[in-house]
Amino acid sequence: MASVEDIGIDLGSSNVLIYARKKGIVLNEPAMLAVDHESRNVIAIGLEAYKMLGREPNNIEVIRPLQKGMIKDFDMLSILLNHFVVRVIGKHIFARPRAVMSISASTNEIEKRQLIIGMFEAGTRRTQLIDRPLAAAVGAGLDIQQYSGRMVADIGGGTTDIAVLSSGEMAARNVLQIGGDDFTDAIIRYVRLKHNLLIGFRTAEDVKAALGTVYPVGESAVSLPIAGRNLVSGLPKQMEVSREEISEAMEEPLRQLMEGFHSVIERVPPELANDVFENGILLTGGGASMKGLQEIVSEMMKIPCRVAENPQQCVAVGCGKALEHPADFDRFLGEGRKNKR
Ligand SMILES: Nc1ncnc2c1ncn2[C@@H]1O[C@H](COP(=O)(O)OP(=O)(O)OP(=O)(O)O)[C@@H](O)[C@H]1O
Ligand SMILES: [Mg+2]
Repeated sequence: MASVEDIGIDLGSSNVLIYARKKGIVLNEPAMLAVDHESRNVIAIGLEAYKMLGREPNNIEVIRPLQKGMIKDFDMLSILLNHFVVRVIGKHIFARPRAVMSISASTNEIEKRQLIIGMFEAGTRRTQLIDRPLAAAVGAGLDIQQYSGRMVADIGGGTTDIAVLSSGEMAARNVLQIGGDDFTDAIIRYVRLKHNLLIGFRTAEDVKAALGTVYPVGESAVSLPIAGRNLVSGLPKQMEVSREEISEAMEEPLRQLMEGFHSVIERVPPELANDVFENGILLTGGGASMKGLQEIVSEMMKIPCRVAENPQQCVAVGCGKALEHPADFDRFLGEGRKNKR
């Protein structure tokens, strides 16, 4: 029987990514389900559920079982995880793959065990857990065993996990309840308050990616047409928003993010802080793609900063790499369920 490749999983609030050994990223889908209000039947999962977001019929709601790194609906999260894992590994009774998974720092021990059992039920042999900043660093190609300190920040949709790494340990860590989605929400709020225009999450996401800049860099578009509902007349309305407006809208979440960076660097011993000043800050996670973020973090922290290549994939790739080099990574992996078979 053909062996099943081992997998790395990043179970995020916004997206689930799965990395398969020798193949790379094989799944990247929104962590969403469309659910029937009354029966709680699942109508769609992942990308199909995301497509329904904002246009779902009355009896259906699109939910995110993980929000801000907190499990809001464990049953739905289990269904989502099972669906994606089965899709990637197929049904194998004997050749079960191993898995390394990165989950939110807020997940408690009982939830962790249940997720690991859920992975076993989906067809894996053994699932181990890894801390997100370590996985992000590995996925970005850093040598985490180096004693010289460096800072890694994984900016997801709902959370930002910032750590100073040294000799494979997290010398300081802060998990913020701020992520890329807070920038999106800030755009929705701003447009509603300033222009009386109600726009949907997906529209705001598009505006953020196309126009959003927290720092004036590059040649991005200067304004963009957006469509929503006029809150006074109740009618559909289209208007232009400018880049300046969007950066003004994003000031508050940016301030909170920067406070998080400061709180971590303040907690490390002086030698490590010096290392970070020399080695710089690495940004990973989907939120790291925000235009101008690298520049503003650099300027405000007075520390060189760079965005990893394919930042959104780093954690999943790091999970997969940890599996490929078990001897190097075993000490970073939390114990998972072993199948005696
Ligand atoms: N090109 C882009 N420009 C700006 N933001 C982006 C871009 N691409 C993705 N994002 C943002 O990245 C965020 C999702 O990142 P990611 O997939 O890493 O989150 P996650 O891992 O699911 O969440 P968490 O780590 O908080 O649990 C969203 O807020 C999304 O808007
Ligand atoms: Mg993440």
